[in-house]
Amino acid sequence: MLLSIIVAYARDKEGRYVIGKDNAIPWHLPRDLVRFRELTTGHAVVMGRKTFDSIGKPLPRRDNIIITHQKNYEVPGAQVFNDLQEALDFVAPIHSEVFIIGGQELYEQTLDKVDRMYITHIRKDGIEGDTFFPKWNRDLFKVIQEEKRNEETEFEILQRIVRTEGSSGEFEISGDMSYYFHGGGFGI
Ligand SMILES: NC(=O)c1ccc[n+]([C@@H]2O[C@H](COP(=O)([O-])OP(=O)(O)OC[C@H]3O[C@@H](n4cnc5c(N)ncnc54)[C@H](OP(=O)(O)O)[C@@H]3O)[C@@H](O)[C@H]2O)c1
Repeated sequence: MLLSIIVAYARDKEGRYVIGKDNAIPWHLPRDLVRFRELTTGHAVVMGRKTFDSIGKPLPRRDNIIITHQKNYEVPGAQVFNDLQEALDFVAPIHSEVFIIGGQELYEQTLDKVDRMYITHIRKDGIEGDTFFPKWNRDLFKVIQEEKRNEETEFEILQRIVRTEGSSGEFEISGDMSYYFHGGGFGI
């Protein structure tokens, strides 16, 4: 299973990566929503309960997984888990790619484990927010696709690079192997 993050963010005055404000996304980019739908359709989408609230309904043609601490939280058309790792263990044997779709809390808990990131960079002045993507180290990833859409938006796909200790060699991890490598679910 490939574990991926998909996110759109803009830098604020302090250089933070804004992703949301008042439990909504502080911009409207229809093309980005289309790309989001195309990339995630047919796969599992894992989200925090607040992101689910902001979307309002399960996303069609995807396995919707909602993470919450609430014990009796139920949503028709979605699967609810109280434990993130349990949710990932559940989807791992079923899906070739699983997308963490937000928000801040979910990104924070998965950034160290993900194999791939799909990032839309929004370059717009004056964006302010109350939720943020965590600081991340670009050196750990390699750009495998990039597309400058216009002056304001740029899209890129990054794949994690793993450097083997004591050597200058590197390899990319992908597919099922990455899941084993990160010790997800099957006891390594
Ligand atoms: N720009 C983007 O690409 C993008 C994408 C997605 C979301 N967003 C934005 O992000 C904001 C929401 O982010 P957020 O950080 O406030 O909320 P969030 O990550 O969507 O959801 C947080 C909630 O998830 C549950 N949760 C998180 N970790 C858990 C764990 N380990 N175990 C059990 N439950 C867990 C808790 O739910 P309970 O409180 O129910 O226990 C927690 O309150 C919104 O503004 C949204 O629009 C932006």
